[in-house]
Amino acid sequence: MRERTFVMVKPDGVAKGLTDEIVARIERAGLKIVSTRRMKLDRGLAEELYSVHRGKDFFERLVEHVLSGEVVVMLVEGENAIARMRELSGATDPAKATKGTIRGDFGSSITENVIHAADSAESAEQEMRIFFEKSEILSSEPSKQG
Ligand code: CMP
Repeated sequence: MRERTFVMVKPDGVAKGLTDEIVARIERAGLKIVSTRRMKLDRGLAEELYSVHRGKDFFERLVEHVLSGEVVVMLVEGENAIARMRELSGATDPAKATKGTIRGDFGSSITENVIHAADSAESAEQEMRIFFEKSEILSSEPSKQG
């Protein structure tokens, strides 16, 4: 299924100069970056992005990290884009992530794990809405009306 998902290079990834390498890996996997923006999150955006983790012991650490520098947000499209981006990213904890995945190769801790990729169709939808216009979120799948 052709779908769109939300991806973010976190401040540790941007600071380590990994954005181009991550873009290259995404494109090599046959996925397309439909829209992208380098930006600084504010607390409201960070807490909204991670609202499902509110109340967990790592929530504040996570929010502080994504506020610590610039991020690169991306709207990624392709066949099974959500699952493919999760595969490319690797396990959340870089210590457990396979070599060859983004976190396995570049992550330094569970907080500084380089990349975020939406984990389901529902979160992809919700996260895309936080950062992108409705017109960008709509799939470019050919119209059935011909
Ligand atoms: P991310 O893919 O951005 O989505 C939520 C983030 O929360 C995750 O990457 C980790 O950086 C962080 N996270 C998830 N679980 C834990 C945990 N047990 N301890 C600390 N941070 C966590």
